Amino acid sequence: MPAAWTAYLGLLSALSAAFAPAVAVKEHDFKKCHQSGFCQRNRAFADHALGTSSWESPYNIAPGSGSFKDGQYQAVILKTINESGETVRLPLTVSFLESGTARVTVDEEKRQKGEIELRHNSTARKERYNEAEQWVIVGGLTLDTSAKVDYEDKTQLNVKYGPSSKFEAAIKFSPFTIDFKRDGSSQIKFNDQGLLNMEHWRPKIELPEPEKKEGESNEEEPKEEPKEEPKEEPKEEPREKPKVEDESTWWDETFGGNTDSKPRGPESVGLDISFVGYEHVYGIPSHTGPLSLKQTRGGDGNYQEPYRLYNADVFEYILDSPMTLYGAIPFMQAHRKDSSVGVFWLNAAETWIDITKGKESRNPLSLGVKSKTSTHTHWISESGLLDVFVLLGPTPKDLTAKYGELTGTTAMPQEFSLGYHQCRWNYVSDEDVKDVDRKMDKFKMPYDVIWLDIEYTDEKQYFTWDKHSFPDPIGMGKQLDSHGRKLVTIIDPHIKNVDNYPVVAELKSKDLAVHNKEGSIFEGWCWPGSSYWIDAFGPAAREWWSTLFKYDAFKGSMENTWIWNDMNEPSVFNGPETTMPKDNLHYGNWEHRDLHNLNGMTFQNATFHALTSRKPGELRRPFVLTRSFFAGSQRVGAMWTGDNQAAWDHLQASIPMVLSQGISGFPFSGADVGGFFGNPEKELLTRWYQAGAFYPFFRGHAHIDSRRREPYLAGEPYSTVIAAALRLRYSLLPAWYTAFRHAHLDGTPIIKPMFYTHPSEDAGFALDDQFFVGTTGLLAKPVTEKDKATVDIWIPDAETYYDYFTYDVLPTAKGKTVALAAPLSKIPLLMRGGHVFARRDRPRRSSALMRWDDYTLVVAVGKEAKVAQGDLYVDDGDSFDFETGQYIHRRFVFDGAAQRLVSVDAVEGRGEVVAEGEWMKKMREVGVDRIVVVGAPASWAGKTTVAVEQAGRTWEARVEFTPAGKGRAAFAVVKKVGARIGADWTVDFA
Ligand SMILES: *[C@@H]1O[C@H](CO)[C@@H](O)[C@H](O)[C@H]1NC(C)=O
Ligand SMILES: *[C@@H]1O[C@H](CO)[C@@H](O)[C@H](O)[C@H]1NC(C)=O
Repeated sequence: MPAAWTAYLGLLSALSAAFAPAVAVKEHDFKKCHQSGFCQRNRAFADHALGTSSWESPYNIAPGSGSFKDGQYQAVILKTINESGETVRLPLTVSFLESGTARVTVDEEKRQKGEIELRHNSTARKERYNEAEQWVIVGGLTLDTSAKVDYEDKTQLNVKYGPSSKFEAAIKFSPFTIDFKRDGSSQIKFNDQGLLNMEHWRPKIELPEPEKKEGESNEEEPKEEPKEEPKEEPKEEPREKPKVEDESTWWDETFGGNTDSKPRGPESVGLDISFVGYEHVYGIPSHTGPLSLKQTRGGDGNYQEPYRLYNADVFEYILDSPMTLYGAIPFMQAHRKDSSVGVFWLNAAETWIDITKGKESRNPLSLGVKSKTSTHTHWISESGLLDVFVLLGPTPKDLTAKYGELTGTTAMPQEFSLGYHQCRWNYVSDEDVKDVDRKMDKFKMPYDVIWLDIEYTDEKQYFTWDKHSFPDPIGMGKQLDSHGRKLVTIIDPHIKNVDNYPVVAELKSKDLAVHNKEGSIFEGWCWPGSSYWIDAFGPAAREWWSTLFKYDAFKGSMENTWIWNDMNEPSVFNGPETTMPKDNLHYGNWEHRDLHNLNGMTFQNATFHALTSRKPGELRRPFVLTRSFFAGSQRVGAMWTGDNQAAWDHLQASIPMVLSQGISGFPFSGADVGGFFGNPEKELLTRWYQAGAFYPFFRGHAHIDSRRREPYLAGEPYSTVIAAALRLRYSLLPAWYTAFRHAHLDGTPIIKPMFYTHPSEDAGFALDDQFFVGTTGLLAKPVTEKDKATVDIWIPDAETYYDYFTYDVLPTAKGKTVALAAPLSKIPLLMRGGHVFARRDRPRRSSALMRWDDYTLVVAVGKEAKVAQGDLYVDDGDSFDFETGQYIHRRFVFDGAAQRLVSVDAVEGRGEVVAEGEWMKKMREVGVDRIVVVGAPASWAGKTTVAVEQAGRTWEARVEFTPAGKGRAAFAVVKKVGARIGADWTVDFA
């Protein structure tokens, strides 16, 4: 939902909803690098280092300080801070983990020991923030005790580690660098360009008032034109020649009228990380640009600004930009033919990342003669530890798996949440909700969830209802429940500061809100006007939050009510960059600056846990949607890409954005279908539904000033086409749920870009407008342009590809594009040969009503050896019983030579250890009703029956064979198969 415009409106009027969206994001409301002191300083430092041929990084490992033990190397880095050779001590730990991941942590001794003085009588913590790990990391930290020193002398130390000791870390002492190698060749280098920079603590020298220095305040830039064209590249701005040590922003900094008191002075961390021989880097969502990240230091087609990670309520965001958005995942992957490596920068403070591509190294002597393109990245965070995980692949799947081991994987979702969600700001009354519910049925449009934005509350007091428009929330909830549907209501972290609101009274009396720099409760503006913010970093605050969701506390909520957490960056309309002052204080007296990017996750997590304790004994998977997120948020819910616009280019941008979430460990994602702001033309709305049917999270949403656009209002032919897209989504729900299971098990994305599925095919590395769904072999390329009747789809391999709807066989076109007809009624969707996937073909009103429906299995016969395989995972979709084995996971294998399809347990050695619960017993009996074999052999012509064998019993089922037609594959349909989904069986076509 909504955004910063109220920063101003909210202060003027009492939050009038009258608002005309037409202007793009006010770019000047958000910092550019040169307006962020530490970013500017680190960029200047980089310019100086890279422009000085004799540059030597002033960081050296203290002779004799190092020791290696049990998979861990510890030493002290000395940073030389002046000409006279004075140094500061920076403890270094390099940990080699059993997973093959390495971790490099650098702290600062003085701050660690608290031997610093804070200015302004601040009560903030003195250490560098060292608790990011506590929120983010859930596993994978076991040290690899078989890691061993392979070579050591006075200048360096080499450690061999990882699977079969294929990995190696060559640690050089002077200057300090690390070269991470795989099979003997360099992959990732730290400080190779000499940009390591840890701003050490120093006391402020109070000088007599000097003559006014340039850059005294950080706001000397003249204001930019307020209305920049959204797509226009920012012009190169004339800059002052940077000083290497620009002190002007060490002690305080002002932006947009807000002054940050910076009681700890300068404390940024910066490091260059080079990906040797890698041309593509991906990840670090959320941004609106292409999946393959751009260079950021200017030049043709490149950005001028670094990618920024500083969660913010960015109003009407612009496209193709490195600007920050609502969430941040500082995980980057580099890829070249047949090799993927990555880094995870564990730091929750404001972070900027510069990317350049060029020669392998700045120092030609340090390498051989080859000069492939490498990608150099420069990571800059405002505060905290330097804490980086290094993943050496070699496949994209290895990276997502190792990253998932560290930060956790996607939670198994509520099954309903994979259905369609109908949202708008706002459904105005309970009658309105019930009416939409009835109309969706009338027009035969399946959906699972209807949503309530902020207006359902009694004057923006969460956990209450507007008595006039929502007099009977339970009646509304019950109507929805009668068709298995759900309600999602919004609950935000800002608590209205008003009398007679028990929630705020408790928040205050229990002292559970975020504090300001003076240590009293922080007050700011958001939807309700004056508000306080729950501090979900504190255990008592989280516990209290749980009490608010109990059914008898949040009256009007019921078992089918779930929650949407918005505005949790947090959005503070009158705060700097629409968020909290950085010198605010959280639980444990940590400054907001240290943990800003974690804020949204801790709040969503508090809601997640609250929903697990609404009623004693009720053990159900929560559904919580979040706008703000960080690494680890995937464990507690879904995200959406925020306030987009009803425009074709926003539809286009949504696909790389969702793909980027997927490869970055948080695949349960989607964009607002139709576009939040504005009014989509009907063709755009229809195309958006077709694309949205392939987002892992599929929700239509609209701004309060946009016209009503429930899909049945579109009129013909649009409504029919939209209904077909919705039904396609519903029929494929078994395949989607199975893809979520894979994501849950090993961190794989739910929709996958070409580089991920085909890491050897260079031509696919930059593609981000087509994708595979899970392991189904379904290859989709949604139409995202107006008036398109065909799309060109890139074919990544020599497999057979069939049109999903017509079974037409595509010409063999490995590495080429093929034109597919894509009239309005059609979603370009292919089936890759070699896969089997499950569907439920009977149209129903909601996913809950499909629960016991029979399955259809689709076999897309592969080219070589005519084999195909796939799987189906199913559990009760609601409880945690799957954790104790209450699930069915089948593997289907079609063998063309033997002309046989078999179903076997996908989990080896599971046996009969599990005592089957009620759900499991009933589910086992659900049938496989139809089997469709696409690409069936011609020899099946004339066949009328197949033999089915299950549990020692054999029977015949009817089969209809259709021979190949003009361009169309032969196919066979077995009807009334009669096999059970939970049993081993064989269908013999011979
Ligand atoms: C800090 O506290 C001392 C003693 O209470 C007071 O005299 C001084 O003015 C305070 N300084 C600031 C910057 O608030
Ligand atoms: C989530 O909440 C639980 C329960 O309060 C807590 O133990 C955990 O640390 C929290 N994690 C995050 C990421 O906020």
